[in-house]
Amino acid sequence: MAEGSCDIGLVGLAVMGQNLVLNMNDHGYKVAVFNRTTSKVDEFLNHEAKGTQVVGAHSADELCKLLKRPRRVMLMVKAGEVVDQTIEHVLSYLEEGDIIIDGGNSLYTDTNRRTKALAEKGILFIGTGVSGGEEGARFGPSIMPGGNPAAWPHVKEIFQAIAAKVEDGTPCCDWVGQDGAGHYVKMVHNGIEYGDIQLICEAYQLLKDGLGMTADEFHEMFSEWNKGELDSYLIEITAEIFAKKDEDGHPMIDKILDTAGQKGTGKWTAISALDLGQPVTLIGESVFARCLSALKDERVAASKVLQGPMKVLTISEKKEFIEDVRRALYCSKMVSYAQGYMLLRAIEKEQNWELNMGGIALMWRGGCIIRSVFLGNIKAAFDKNPKLQNLLLDDFFSSALNKYGWSWRKAVIHAIEIGVPTPAFSTALAFFDGYRTERLPANLLQAQRDFFGAHTYERVDKPRGQFFHTNWTGRGGRVSSTTYNA
Ligand code: 6PG
Repeated sequence: MAEGSCDIGLVGLAVMGQNLVLNMNDHGYKVAVFNRTTSKVDEFLNHEAKGTQVVGAHSADELCKLLKRPRRVMLMVKAGEVVDQTIEHVLSYLEEGDIIIDGGNSLYTDTNRRTKALAEKGILFIGTGVSGGEEGARFGPSIMPGGNPAAWPHVKEIFQAIAAKVEDGTPCCDWVGQDGAGHYVKMVHNGIEYGDIQLICEAYQLLKDGLGMTADEFHEMFSEWNKGELDSYLIEITAEIFAKKDEDGHPMIDKILDTAGQKGTGKWTAISALDLGQPVTLIGESVFARCLSALKDERVAASKVLQGPMKVLTISEKKEFIEDVRRALYCSKMVSYAQGYMLLRAIEKEQNWELNMGGIALMWRGGCIIRSVFLGNIKAAFDKNPKLQNLLLDDFFSSALNKYGWSWRKAVIHAIEIGVPTPAFSTALAFFDGYRTERLPANLLQAQRDFFGAHTYERVDKPRGQFFHTNWTGRGGRVSSTTYNA
């Protein structure tokens, strides 16, 4: 194969890598591929990529030689050390002005570091989120690139060609921002994905335990929900899941063990929220709900010791209750996205990035796991007011919350009455009530801190930023501790 003939090189032929290559090939790009275990290259060329114009390379050197200048090398390898090792490996065959793209789920701080270190060597680095699983990668993922802005013009055309498109043809891919911004936005996407999944699971358990609904009924209900405000990929696949039968004819859903796995991006989102002091409670609860589910043996033992409510409650208005739960899910989802956007605002400030909030909603509108009609409403809110402080304050969202608020409360009340855990529904409601409360009890909290540790407080009748200390017992000294916030 002629040197310098390929448009892009891809390293890492696992499921996402292979499908991205085939997607690029469909769009007329000539892709060179390399994999550390080189037999995978041959397997790929002889099977999935048979009859395409994909070119195989058996070393990083060979791969880089096949590429047009400036060379574009995309890595689809496991996040963490493997990314550093692979960069190190290809680096010796690249020259100034070449581009490396990391398309895995890397931690954004790693991407910050890599962008900087590679810029010093004259290499333009991009860290990009790629969402949509196997099918998305093959036929149109959502792509969220960030990193060195000088690299963007070199990959824009390919990325936007292979990305999912919304109804008017706009690609679900645009420049997100500097350094690790792309990977940060993908991390928040995944955190929101955790939240959406948890909310659907809570609705399922509440209706299963509260009404005794069957898999077939759930199939119908979720199919119905998918025609309205909740129209989304995750509701759609949930409807399909309930229709699937095991070999013995029983619903597949009942055969699956109730312990959740996780690869870490939800946890990173929650950690980042704590670091930035943002109350992203729904994603946090969703991560913890997975952790609790994983304690299967303990839960089985505890179920024999700890009692739930004594009163057996019968829900007579089945249709009404299902609608309450649907509305509770919708309201909680609004809170979750509002919290996710609060986190984006906070990181933007901390990292000095400029994030295009409406653009992010558009990138999530198609191709990715959280794609939904709802993201169109978010995009519209930011189009109307790009400086919108909180999604919940947009007319569309505030009027929906005000309209459905009582149903949401009823669903949570029922959950408590029948002893079904709904951490995500409940935390969303607690956040909503906290956010709309003018005076919270933090005055008492501050008094306590000042009482036992002279931590000082601000007063309602004095300008912000002035701190006071009271000698609460008459026994304390006049010295107060320094006032700072973590
Ligand atoms: C996507 C997904 C994907 C994620 C998996 C698994 O956007 O295509 O977010 O990137 O890794 O969904 O995540 P967990 O194993 O943590 O559930």
